[in-house]
Amino acid sequence: MNVLLLGSGGREHALAWKIAQSSILDNLYIAPGNAGTKQHGKNVDLSVNDFEAIKVFVLNNKIDFVVVGPEEPLVNGISDYFLSDESVSMVPVIGPSKEGAKLEGSKAFAKEFMARHNIPTAKYAAFDSNNLNSGFTFLEKMSSPYVLKADGLAAGKGVLIIHDLQEAKNELKSILLDKKFGNAGKKVVIEEFLSGIELSVFVITDGDSYKILPEAKDYKRIGEGDTGLNTGGMGAISPVPFAKGTFYDKVINQVIVPTIKGLKKDNISYKGFLFFGLIKVKDDPYVIEYNCRLGDPETEVIIPRLKSDIIDLFEGVGSNTLSERDIQFFDKSAATVMMVSGGYPKSYKKGKQIYGLNNILDSLVFHAGTSADGPSIKTEGGRVLSVTSYGRTLEKALEKSYENISKISFDNAYFRKDIGHDVL
Ligand code: AMP
Ligand code: GLY
Repeated sequence: MNVLLLGSGGREHALAWKIAQSSILDNLYIAPGNAGTKQHGKNVDLSVNDFEAIKVFVLNNKIDFVVVGPEEPLVNGISDYFLSDESVSMVPVIGPSKEGAKLEGSKAFAKEFMARHNIPTAKYAAFDSNNLNSGFTFLEKMSSPYVLKADGLAAGKGVLIIHDLQEAKNELKSILLDKKFGNAGKKVVIEEFLSGIELSVFVITDGDSYKILPEAKDYKRIGEGDTGLNTGGMGAISPVPFAKGTFYDKVINQVIVPTIKGLKKDNISYKGFLFFGLIKVKDDPYVIEYNCRLGDPETEVIIPRLKSDIIDLFEGVGSNTLSERDIQFFDKSAATVMMVSGGYPKSYKKGKQIYGLNNILDSLVFHAGTSADGPSIKTEGGRVLSVTSYGRTLEKALEKSYENISKISFDNAYFRKDIGHDVL
């Protein structure tokens, strides 16, 4: 099998690491990849949104599967593009149709979907620039804190949680009229604030059947004790200790099953990964968001826990035979800690030499933002790399990641020292 994997972050390094272990892999290509993915395949210089160039590459290299890491090409319709072109329509794209990707690409669409299929989520209303005043009235009827969400993709910055009513009104106006988030803010979803603990649940589906992957918990804020600015994720653990019993049964029966059935009922083609961002309120799950892809850094803990051959699962998705495939997991915990450039998520410097990578023998190092400069590896992003470890328990896995991350260094590096502490 020849596989083309799209993306360049820690998620893609973890996927490349796993795909490379498949007994049925011939060639793995990663576009554009990073210095870490290069250890498992060949990086190719293609933009994930240049569908024409991707198609040409697929034809020239006899690619059997295109696996899509990030959301943007999915929201832009890469699956539909392939299906509608005779020369590549038989090459499965692991990732949903444009309509399916709207579950992530439009918050209003996702909320309407959940309302239609009775899937538990926060109460809400959606507004655009033509009904700004109704938005103000709606805010007056809600209680603080106010949750405002730009409808479209806003690089993880489109959710505002505001305590003051007047400030919430000003923000609503600045998104809708002053285009604070550009076109992503043409519509705004205002929703009820839910108080609880979050977790990330994932399935892989061929549109008919699905397999549940290990769940994870990620740590989004830059500061310890979950304080400060939101980031792309500072670490993750799997399994999540509270994801069990009647709560987990509700996740399956009230969220996963009605979502998969709902997609089918609405005639929305969905073949790929589906990510449920959930919050546990008392003993009930609510959907905070859907994503049409795997999470980052969640992938860096859930993929290492997958025992089965991942290409076998992709074949199941591609040929609508996922129900016949076996999926198995390692009965071990996994934890990952992200090392970032000082200053991130605000401004930071790139191009710093990374030391100590060769000292890590009993953890996995997944590159997120790195580049190779001859034999040396340099920082190339805010999130630079994550150190994943296994353990008999989460405590052991975390201990190992912290032991090993202390052997890696670069100028002005930072990582959180409290990953997993809230649930242990
Ligand atoms: P999202 O981009 O939808 O995942 O939102 C980003 C973060 O905002 C989530 O991970 C939550 O921490 C928080 N959030 C979003 N919606 C709500 C809500 N209705 N109640 C409480 N927190 C929320
Ligand atoms: N870690 C959350 C996400 O990937 O959206």
